Amino acid sequence: MKAGILVILIIAVSLLNCQQKASEPQTTAVAAVIQPTATEVDYGLLKMYCYPCHSPSTPSHDAILAPPMEAVKYRYKLNYQDKESFVNAITSMMLNPQKEKALMNRAVAQFGLMNATALSEEKIRKIAAYIYDNELEKPVWFQEHFDQEHGVKAGTQKQ
Ligand code: HEC
Repeated sequence: MKAGILVILIIAVSLLNCQQKASEPQTTAVAAVIQPTATEVDYGLLKMYCYPCHSPSTPSHDAILAPPMEAVKYRYKLNYQDKESFVNAITSMMLNPQKEKALMNRAVAQFGLMNATALSEEKIRKIAAYIYDNELEKPVWFQEHFDQEHGVKAGTQKQ
């Protein structure tokens, strides 16, 4: 009786082993295929840590929690044209937000100053570099609002 149970156990364990071995190479193959590029990882960080507030998909200007990142980028590029100073300015603001440093005074008045983040400086720098280098999604209402705010196409606006 005991010997019978032992045999079954041995068979079960070896079957389990086999299955594990068979599935190992598959897992690595899948991981290799879906391995994201460094840029995709940085975009993932932006989406995860910034878009909850700076969302490009908020349906209307009234529903937003913070200015769209495209607006933040535009404003920061006016003051900081080169990548290094742009990344430094955003990183400094994120790690230690202060009214004196803020460039978007109307946003501060409307939403209150952004809270300090628990993100590491390294991650913030990656996100800021991604923002500088890449075209960002804009909310559908963005261009019209932007043109109104900045007086572009002023002559064509409805009274
Ligand atoms: C919890 C909501 C929230 C999250 C998450 C958030 N922000 Fe903000 N952010 C705000 C608000 C609100 C403002 C507008 C007030 C202000 O300018 O401080 C703002 C403004 C900013 C500004 C402009 C500050 C200024 O006035 O000069 C920068 C730069 C910025 N955010 C970057 C980021 C980045 C990068 C991330 C992601 C790592 C991020 N934010 C995540 C809420 C958020």
